[in-house]
Amino acid sequence: MPDPSSLPFLWGTATASYQIEGAVAEGGRTASIWDTFAHTPHKIERAETGDVACDHYHRYKEDVALIRELGVKAYRFSISWNRILPEGKGKPNPRGVDFYDRLIDALSGAGITPFVTLFHWDLPQTLQDRGGFTDRDIAGWFSEYAARTAMLFGDRVKHWIMLNEPSVFACLGHAMGVHAPGLADPKAFFATTHHLNLAQGMAVKGLRSIDGSFQLGTTLNVQLGVAADDSEASALMAQKHNDLWNDSFLGPLLTGKYPDRVISDIEPFIQPGDLEITRQKIDFLGINHYSRVHIKANPKATLGYEQVAPPAELPRTSFEWEINPAHFRDLLLSVHNRYLCPPIIITENGAYFEDTLSGEDKVHDARRIEFLDGYIHAMLEARESGVDIRGYFIWSMLDNFEWACGYRPTFGIVRVDFDTLKRTRKDSFYWFRDFIKDHP
Ligand code: FCB
Repeated sequence: MPDPSSLPFLWGTATASYQIEGAVAEGGRTASIWDTFAHTPHKIERAETGDVACDHYHRYKEDVALIRELGVKAYRFSISWNRILPEGKGKPNPRGVDFYDRLIDALSGAGITPFVTLFHWDLPQTLQDRGGFTDRDIAGWFSEYAARTAMLFGDRVKHWIMLNEPSVFACLGHAMGVHAPGLADPKAFFATTHHLNLAQGMAVKGLRSIDGSFQLGTTLNVQLGVAADDSEASALMAQKHNDLWNDSFLGPLLTGKYPDRVISDIEPFIQPGDLEITRQKIDFLGINHYSRVHIKANPKATLGYEQVAPPAELPRTSFEWEINPAHFRDLLLSVHNRYLCPPIIITENGAYFEDTLSGEDKVHDARRIEFLDGYIHAMLEARESGVDIRGYFIWSMLDNFEWACGYRPTFGIVRVDFDTLKRTRKDSFYWFRDFIKDHP
């Protein structure tokens, strides 16, 4: 085994389709569940939507030029399923395909490796109307879409990420009702959890047979829950969070098992042979990490608990997310020690801090720089300690539509003025550019 810290390392930055593209009614695109949800009253702060977002659909050349200037060698973006397959399945839409063709070619021309996420939560509405991820047929629909997409772009795209953060999609979208499709139903949540794992496994199998040179992975949000108070109930619920949020996705993929404590809830949806499909040899495991989470028992919540703000003495971002780089290092070590892991890529990490524009075109985001510096060093420490980490992607390249919170949470290293759509490089952009020059 080579020493992981001697292996090549990729620096990158990330975005997602609904959060940046806009142009929701152009080029033959139909609605996704996020269009529907965002246009439902009271779901999104200030009734904002992704209708225009960063207008990346029209400004992708300017954005690729910025990514090139940043000096990263990799860019993670997601494909809008409903732009490629407006009916959710069947014939690809040539105008949707053309947009991604142009984007991928622009990236290649700039020497940037595309990492393509196939599903970053924007399910075609037409498939939601048939049950979405609560319906087992989704595994077939998703793997068909994945295979078609890989055949369309696989001559230039080799790195494929099946899903983005299935735990967030399952939990916030199907148990808490705060993300699309807006359900708060335990049965829907457990069905969705299993069908995400199944769809992912089928897609990996399919893509593997299309091109043996593909580098296949998926992206999990791994965030440890800790009890928010001294009660036994909260301690139990923190454990439940860890089972449902972390191990119900790491387990089926890496070991073919659900955690013992959740199996009875998921069993009704498992058919013989499923766990052989969910367990796949992948080339890399994408990990998104922002913060550990504080869990409090709440018998009224769908799953019996809620996430609360960290205790007052702990440092936090403007999102009330705890800042704790040492925990990030320990988490990476713990995933590495508990699972027989493929190489890890940090596919998202970053922070929302309120930014102010100084003068015409300066954003002095010192707190974001301090955050990134702390987390990147923590990751490098884990790597020095033997965790095989091959890349790190900042979330996010651009300020964007941050789901139920609309445009308020600014995560970008590039500021976007959502009235004029002007891009402004923040200090963190220059900091990251210089950092990666020094750490090739
Ligand atoms: C992650 C999502 C990403 C973005 C960041 C802040 O959960 O994958 O789209 O919202 O959080």
